[in-house]
Amino acid sequence: MEIYVVPDAPATGVIAAGILAAVVRSKPNAVLGIATGSSPIPVYKALAAHGLDMSQVRAFALDEYVGLRAGHPQSYAEVVRREVTEQLGLDPARVAVPDGGAADPHQAAVNYDAAIREAGGIDVQLLGIGHNGHIAFNEPGSELDSRTRVEVLADRTRQANARYFRSLEDVPTRCITQGLGTILEARQLLMVVRGADKAEVLAAALSGPVSPDCPGSVLQLHPHVTVVADQAAAMHLGACNAQVRVQIATPSP
Ligand code: F6R
Repeated sequence: MEIYVVPDAPATGVIAAGILAAVVRSKPNAVLGIATGSSPIPVYKALAAHGLDMSQVRAFALDEYVGLRAGHPQSYAEVVRREVTEQLGLDPARVAVPDGGAADPHQAAVNYDAAIREAGGIDVQLLGIGHNGHIAFNEPGSELDSRTRVEVLADRTRQANARYFRSLEDVPTRCITQGLGTILEARQLLMVVRGADKAEVLAAALSGPVSPDCPGSVLQLHPHVTVVADQAAAMHLGACNAQVRVQIATPSP
């Protein structure tokens, strides 16, 4: 595992975008796993600035709410369209988000898992982490080998995401999420974390026990992981084991 510690959120974007850009340069038809939430926003901004030919790139989102109306501005389909597809110049037909409006969301989840496999698997999966250790929407208690499925959102996750909705009541209670086993099949994992409020959970994920109690701890099971954290999020990483290479990086603007 490689950990980059950078001064601030824009720098997390520069470093992570450099890693994604290298993947796309070496494989113009790369399959990217994309995340929503606030952590990856600087990554997409910095990646757009690379001006790469993204016409052959495919992308799969990590998760989607169940039950929002089509076109809801906070549905991840819309967030991905605004922040990823349009910004990076991706072909919308090559960008997939789980179908949270499906009549049978359980079947939609199974189909999504199959679609990732049929696309040849994900080359690099971008991730954030929730305060309770979730990655994608795999809440604590998720099986380490879980597949894409319907999940109930934890209260803490709904509270954290209420900032995007008018009220807590408007935040959906269910989602479709890639499973931990699905995520672990990506050839490379790239986690972006920022803020002191994530410092404890980041240290737990990277150096605590591998356990469903902290879904992000599955990163320790993957052979090719890069974590890009700002200094505040990295403040408890001193205790990480010796296999972890921490680099202080100051990207030039
Ligand atoms: C989003 C996702 C979530 C977020 C996590 C952190 O697609 O899968 O796991 O990465 O909730 O969110 P932020 O970055 O907003 O703190």
